[in-house]
Amino acid sequence: MKPLPSVAFVNVSQLLQFVDRLVVERTGKHLDDVQRAVVEGTWERQTYDDIAQKCYVTKNHVGDVGAELWQLLSEILGEDIKKTNFRSSLERVYIESSDNSNIYHINGSNNNFCPTQISNQLSPRNKLYETDINTQSTSHYRDLTVAPQIINFYARQSEIQTLSNSISNDNTRLISVLGLSGIGKTTLVKRFVDLNLQEFELMIWRSLRFPKPLELFVNDLLNSCKQEAKETLDDKLKQLLDVLTDKKCLIILDDVHNIFATTQLAGQYQTEYQDYQNFFTMMAEVEHQSHVILISQEQCAEMECLDEELYPIKCLDLSDLDDVAILKGTGLKNEDSWLKLINLYEGNPVYLKSIAILIKKIFDGEVAEFLGDNSLIITKDMQYNFHQLFKRISPIEQQLVLELSKFDQPVSREYLKQSLDLSSMDLINGLQSLQQRYLVRKIKEDKILFKLSSVFQEYVKNCCLNLQP
Ligand SMILES: Nc1ncnc2c1ncn2[C@@H]1O[C@H](COP(=O)(O)OP(=O)(O)OP(=O)(O)O)[C@@H](O)[C@H]1O
Ligand SMILES: [Mg+2]
Repeated sequence: MKPLPSVAFVNVSQLLQFVDRLVVERTGKHLDDVQRAVVEGTWERQTYDDIAQKCYVTKNHVGDVGAELWQLLSEILGEDIKKTNFRSSLERVYIESSDNSNIYHINGSNNNFCPTQISNQLSPRNKLYETDINTQSTSHYRDLTVAPQIINFYARQSEIQTLSNSISNDNTRLISVLGLSGIGKTTLVKRFVDLNLQEFELMIWRSLRFPKPLELFVNDLLNSCKQEAKETLDDKLKQLLDVLTDKKCLIILDDVHNIFATTQLAGQYQTEYQDYQNFFTMMAEVEHQSHVILISQEQCAEMECLDEELYPIKCLDLSDLDDVAILKGTGLKNEDSWLKLINLYEGNPVYLKSIAILIKKIFDGEVAEFLGDNSLIITKDMQYNFHQLFKRISPIEQQLVLELSKFDQPVSREYLKQSLDLSSMDLINGLQSLQQRYLVRKIKEDKILFKLSSVFQEYVKNCCLNLQP
């Protein structure tokens, strides 16, 4: 009989993928954000309270999501799963399925696994993806367990080209993909990854949705690179740089904004994640043959560079997605009005999904009738997300946002200076910070003017009335 793999072999990314596949097989749907947080948090023995705080929902909501998930897993696995026995039960089930040799290996690694029992029933799209991986050269290794699967991808060809050029032609070592929540950053990068699976010897995708200190993050990377991590952080970083010099690697770090502090100007590191500043600088400055892509809603100084031709640093700001294809399959009517709807919602696929659901429910899918009402509706989901964002920005930015929201036209810096009780320094830093969060755009006419994102502006006008001075 084969010896059992050691328990330490099961890590949280593997577990998430395992549970996700079990759930997809039964329900046809992937785990959503809160379900993932419940799985991850329970695995790490956190309370529902801790999990609720991390994903900005109530403890009761987390409890409900947990209860439903335990019920579903109990049905799937045919045994009683609850919060208290989740870790031990899932560990055992996972190891049993691994022991049946159902893990597939890339260059001897077991980080991408798929028990056949489950993979046999995956959708054709998933199967195709696995076949792609299995037929690749054995010297390639990739760990994309937490990267989303892309089902539809529209437009953004020039952005794909920019990423390709930066990586292949310009040898850019640190690339940041930036923009508002929902604009399509993760989708774009994953699409790029799918198109370039063969280009890198080693590919690792990690998310900082629930950030960890740099040392743990580097340990995790070294572990994926099959390296035994040395003692000190300094040595570990050197070890990692050796790998990046030796092999052509692509490391993707999603949701980077979570390491930045709330209620301060954009791009300020939280104390416990301050080390990432050095890490990003090091990735750009030290010579190696690999690439790091940072995905973030917020820009920090290390992502910016005054001369992109000279330095191996690139910032890719994602603009509106203005392709009507994005509304295909939504069931909306009046196709000739779609572009107007897309422009109204600033080409943000997440706003568009939310409004499409509302138009179907209230207007029976008649886009023209919805637009005829002439108002920019902020759905409940948008309100929730903007509320989190408004709470995240600094008090100086909140003042600027409240003032800017009063005007439909762009406003000059001088006007803002006169109307707000802010020093020149606070005003200018505040405006820069709002730009680094993609909430304010600079418009250059005969003068330089500033304009709030119109969807966010509508939220502020309607939902922050009590905060207006
Ligand atoms: N180019 C695209 N083609 C088709 N759908 C897209 C595209 N870009 C984004 N989407 C859709 O919009 C949704 C949001 O995109 P994505 O998760 O990439 O946004 P994001 O910018 O990473 O947001 P966040 O900062 O909140 O993580 C995706 O689930 C996807 O369905
Ligand atoms: Mg994302």
